[in-house]
Amino acid sequence: MYGMINRALEDMVLTYHGQDTWRAVLRKADVDVEMFVRMETYPDSMTYSLVGAASEVLGKPVPDLLRAFGLFWVRYTGGEGYGPLLDEAGDNLTEVLSNLDEMHFRLGTIFPMYGSVKPDQGMQPPQFSCTDIDDKALTLHYYSKRSGLAPMVIGLVEGLAERLKCTVEIRQLTFKDRGDDHDSFFVRYA
Ligand code: HEM
Repeated sequence: MYGMINRALEDMVLTYHGQDTWRAVLRKADVDVEMFVRMETYPDSMTYSLVGAASEVLGKPVPDLLRAFGLFWVRYTGGEGYGPLLDEAGDNLTEVLSNLDEMHFRLGTIFPMYGSVKPDQGMQPPQFSCTDIDDKALTLHYYSKRSGLAPMVIGLVEGLAERLKCTVEIRQLTFKDRGDDHDSFFVRYA
């Protein structure tokens, strides 16, 4: 994944736990990178190792860590100059969640998209769709070539809700890691 993801994880650990803890995470993950370059791709295995090591060092289960990271990611990207992109995606959760693919696609003008580079390099964004859209409620479908990141989606939606100044309730309905075709979530906000 893009260095920006690893960098944000580093930033989250540094912000809440400090330099020594981050050094311990790098050591445990056996990652010898002094500084992640935002626009460079790193193997997904490196990101998974960092998340696993951070979970052990912090004594926090991986799903809880990923959820916290999702929330942090929305704050982080907002502060890294991507705020306008999030703002343009919509004024409420239904609009923003319906525009996630378009938003990641537009990032292709900044990050090289898959197809234009070697397989396993470049951006391989997730795909989302919304169904059963009701007044302030919907089902969010999440498709990815990766596994285990559904808890991060929950945190991301919570981060968007924070940004949009609404409260949100989100519950996972289907689970890819339990044999369902993909992950999906019931989302209601107020
Ligand atoms: C402006 C803010 C955002 C930026 C700049 C951004 C950018 C990115 C980038 C660069 C990746 C890595 C893809 C790769 O290296 O293959 C990624 C992954 C991902 N993004 Fe976004 N993103 C943003 C907001 C969001 C939001 C709001 C959501 C969902 C609510 C989301 C869902 C995801 C997920 C789940 C992944 C993990 C990859 C996967 O599932 O396969 N992103 N994003």
